[in-house]
Amino acid sequence: MPRIFSGIQPSGELHIGNYLGAVKNWVALQGQFEAFFCVVNYHAITLPYAKADLESRTREMAIGLLASGLDPAKCTLFIQSQVPEHTELAWIFNTLTPLGELERQTQFKEKSAWQEQVMAGILNYPVLQAADILLYRADLVPVGEDQIQHLELSRVIARNWNARFSPDAPYFPEPQPKLTPTRRIVGLDGQAKMSKSVGNTVGLMDSPEAMWDKLRPAVTDPARQKKTDPGDPDKCAAIFPLHRAFSTDTTVAEVEANCRGAKWGCIDCKKVLHANMVAELTPIRSRAAELKTAPAAVDAAFAEGAEKARAVARATIADVKSRMGLPQ
Ligand code: TRP
Repeated sequence: MPRIFSGIQPSGELHIGNYLGAVKNWVALQGQFEAFFCVVNYHAITLPYAKADLESRTREMAIGLLASGLDPAKCTLFIQSQVPEHTELAWIFNTLTPLGELERQTQFKEKSAWQEQVMAGILNYPVLQAADILLYRADLVPVGEDQIQHLELSRVIARNWNARFSPDAPYFPEPQPKLTPTRRIVGLDGQAKMSKSVGNTVGLMDSPEAMWDKLRPAVTDPARQKKTDPGDPDKCAAIFPLHRAFSTDTTVAEVEANCRGAKWGCIDCKKVLHANMVAELTPIRSRAAELKTAPAAVDAAFAEGAEKARAVARATIADVKSRMGLPQ
């Protein structure tokens, strides 16, 4: 079975942007691949943060992943800081990463632009990401398009290491992106990418009422002024794409016909979407509520995940050190 690895930042409670953009896809992949999924808290500390805030965001993400259906019996689910081999390999890879490659990363330029002082961790962020992936010698990395450049760099690092330390038979595979089927999810404002800080998304743990309050004013086809105007689902900014994600193919076809034929107004269409979202997300929300009352069980699941991950990680580090002349 090919191996996959992916990581998610501990950003707190999941919202439909990171659920559709990553987690829902991971749940679908966990049975088909040997899967490693990681809460990347060492990446999260590359920008200034508050300790208590990071702790609660990490816990909320851990609960959200379990509640969404990631099953520790089907995948290795863990928190990055509980597997110290990630940072060990990252140091080694720092010695094989050209500085120019790091300086030209788009995300580095964006993130460092608004920092008063730029810390080396932001520059070296993609080196740690390469270590995450290559520590498990993963073949495929389920990610969105925004991570393609980071993955190219992971392949450069794998090639550089292989060329120096295992020239005959490459030790590290060159990991390929496995793009998430749901493309970039536009926010309910019809403009920016969905994010909690922009406030243009729906929280996975929102009540049905809170979800409706966010869907009701969401931007649709701006040219459609009233119900009797025919609409164009392809120009619908926020709602039609969510139907594609949450509704059946039959409903999507129905939405399309009723929009173009001016039979449904946008509110009618939003009501159908709301019902389907509530149906999919209510079980997740109630599992999360249960897990919140059982912190020891959540900790135990992640401790076990870290042990499983470490068994693989230790073996890789042993191979790497022995090939590089580093005593264990
Ligand atoms: N940089 C990724 C993001 O912001 C998170 C990440 C860290 C990751 N390590 C990874 C993703 C390894 C895939 C594989 O979304």
